[in-house]
Amino acid sequence: MENDKPVIISPSLLSSDFTRLGQELADLEKAGLSWVHWDVMDGAFVPNITFGPPVIAACREKSDLFFDVHLMIENPDRYLDEFTKAGADLLCVHAEACPHLERTVSEIARLGVKPAVAVNPHTSLSVLEFILPQLYMVLVMSVNPGFGGQKFIPFSMEKISRLKDMIEKAGAKTIIQVDGGVTPDNTYELVKRGAGVLVSGSAFFGYPPYKERLEIFESAAVQEAGNQ
Ligand code: DX5
Ligand code: ZN
Repeated sequence: MENDKPVIISPSLLSSDFTRLGQELADLEKAGLSWVHWDVMDGAFVPNITFGPPVIAACREKSDLFFDVHLMIENPDRYLDEFTKAGADLLCVHAEACPHLERTVSEIARLGVKPAVAVNPHTSLSVLEFILPQLYMVLVMSVNPGFGGQKFIPFSMEKISRLKDMIEKAGAKTIIQVDGGVTPDNTYELVKRGAGVLVSGSAFFGYPPYKERLEIFESAAVQEAGNQ
């Protein structure tokens, strides 16, 4: 994580122009983004289907961005190796999709990729208690996964504060990512409560140019919004 930024914005490609993915990645990099968020959906864990390892591998050759790969798939253990070879820098599995979560997380780390776990809105943080020190990141889902453009679920704010507290008590360095319904309007509170990485799909790609949009998010992180 860079220390000079108030928050990292990880734009969700789900809201990008799929006909020109390579160009979108180049534009993000040029605009000063460092991360990009890949929403992998299998039509089973979530109702929607998106892209898989071949698309990520093709884009890896064209981009130096940090590939933040959110696996909304059942039984992700089957594909960890493939997504690693495709060029993921971070693999985030859903706690709800992993009956042996510690084993899955250890395997991601063994593959040399940063391990992360996502929790659906209703999922208790208690599933993370004993594995927190092993996690590079926890993704707090602030919508039910599957689609972009949904409304932020308000109780997620309290969940972020509780997670921040758990991380501090555990003496861990785990970073907190928030995904779903993130806008410049809720950015200040999210960061104040402990979010280090914000995923934004519709509220990012819907408002080009990307450099200006990034600046709006970054200034919202340090000063309460009213500026969009
Ligand atoms: C939802 C995905 C999100 C989504 C966010 O299942 O995990 O990453 O793209 O989209 P917005 O920012 O539009 O809520
Ligand atoms: Zn996501």
